Amino acid sequence: MISVWAPTVDEVLNSLKNRDWPAWIDTETKSRIQRLHRCQDRRRSLAGHVLARTMIAAQIGIPVEEIRVNYDRFGKPELLSRNVFYNLAHCGVRVACALGSVRLGIDLEQIRNLHSFEEICKKVLTPREQRAIELAEDRLERFFEFWTLKESYVKATGRGLSHPLASFELERTAVGWSVRDRSSDYNWSLSTYRLRDGYWIAVCADTPSLGGELCPFEICLTTSFPFQE
Ligand SMILES: CC(C)(COP(=O)(O)OP(=O)(O)OC[C@H]1O[C@@H](n2cnc3c(N)ncnc32)[C@H](O)[C@@H]1OP(=O)(O)O)[C@@H](O)C(=O)NCCC(=O)NCCS
Repeated sequence: MISVWAPTVDEVLNSLKNRDWPAWIDTETKSRIQRLHRCQDRRRSLAGHVLARTMIAAQIGIPVEEIRVNYDRFGKPELLSRNVFYNLAHCGVRVACALGSVRLGIDLEQIRNLHSFEEICKKVLTPREQRAIELAEDRLERFFEFWTLKESYVKATGRGLSHPLASFELERTAVGWSVRDRSSDYNWSLSTYRLRDGYWIAVCADTPSLGGELCPFEICLTTSFPFQE
């Protein structure tokens, strides 16, 4: 089971009043947040790290102050010394965190008009994916679904945007999506969710494969922050 929470930034930050939240966040994470230039980026990033720590503490039952995080060489935050994996995303007014017992990545995107839509499609999609967008009735909807799927995958592998988005292809399966990528040995399985307020969420997780078929993973999605003051 993978838990996904996707509350608003305000819901998370409002819950911090009268709490000793600076003690929850390690020095490395604090300095990464402080290096962000824009106030709204610092707010989103802080909300993401608070959300992640709250989920981790609630689900694995350790005090939030004891959570230790490490950053890998591509900047992916990971929990130290536990078989628990998490990943964060933020966009617009929302943040999202996925937590589970397998390697995973999450992306969150707000559907919005894009300048140079065609050029962006060519840059991030394979020719077959581009054709799927061209044939779609609502091209922007489908594009953002593809985009969040692709970012969730490069965040699951940890390579981020150093992994060119057009170098691998998404394929629909009976239960969601999979990825065709010669550079990866894992059995990645992907799912998307469309929130009513115009956001796509995609989760990509390493899942067992049985007889050539990918096993779907179960997701529990919460779109609010249950820890209000
Ligand atoms: C990871 C990446 C795809 C995020 O894209 P984005 O759309 O800007 O941001 P999102 O909201 O989806 O996710 C941001 C969160 O992903 C996490 N993250 C950062 N790097 C990550 C990575 N390589 N893999 C997975 N997750 C990562 C962080 O928690 C980050 O939030 P924070 O900055 O508040 O801590 C992009 O920033 C990237 O490619 N970074 C890696 C850059 C790189 O290769 N650096 C090499 C250093 S030598």
